[in-house]
Amino acid sequence: MPTVLILNGPNLNLLGTRRPEVYGSTTLAEVEALCREEAERLGLEAVCRQSNHEGQLVDWIHEAGVEHKAGRCVGVVFNAGAYTHTSVALHDAIEGADVPVVEVHISNVHRREEFRHRSYLSPVARGIVVGFGVYGYVLAIHGLHQATRP
Ligand code: DQA
Repeated sequence: MPTVLILNGPNLNLLGTRRPEVYGSTTLAEVEALCREEAERLGLEAVCRQSNHEGQLVDWIHEAGVEHKAGRCVGVVFNAGAYTHTSVALHDAIEGADVPVVEVHISNVHRREEFRHRSYLSPVARGIVVGFGVYGYVLAIHGLHQATRP
C-alpha cells in the first residue's frame, strides 16, 4: 500500500494541553489515529512522525523524497510548527527532495501575530491548509491523494 507521511514539528507533541483555545483539545495520538483511518479509506498507509528537532525533520523529508521517487510514498502532510516561520533548511529540504508536501496549520496563522504570517515552506508546498483545526490534516490527505492520483 502506498504511504503518506504525516509529519509534525516542534511542540506538536503537546497537542491537547498546549493552548487548547488555539489548537483544540485533541491529542497528537488522536490526530495520528484520525490520519491513519482516513488514509486507509483512500487506500493509503499513514506513517506518522513527530520531532522537535529541525535536522530530524530534514532527514525525514529527504527519506520521503527517496520513497516518492520509488513510487512508494504519495507525499507529505507537514505541520512544521514554528519552524514554518524560520527554517530555510526545511524550505531547501522540500525543494531538494522534490516530494509533494501539503503545509498544514491547525490555527489560522494569518489572524495571529505578524511573525506567523511569513512561511518559508509555502513557496515550495504543493498546497496549504490553514485554520480548520485538526480536521486540516484530513483535508490535506484528501488533497494530496487527489493531486497525485495517476
Ligand atoms: C501551527 C502555527 C505555528 O505558528 C505555531 O508555531 C505552531 C502550530 C499551527 O498548527 O497552527 O506550533 O503550525
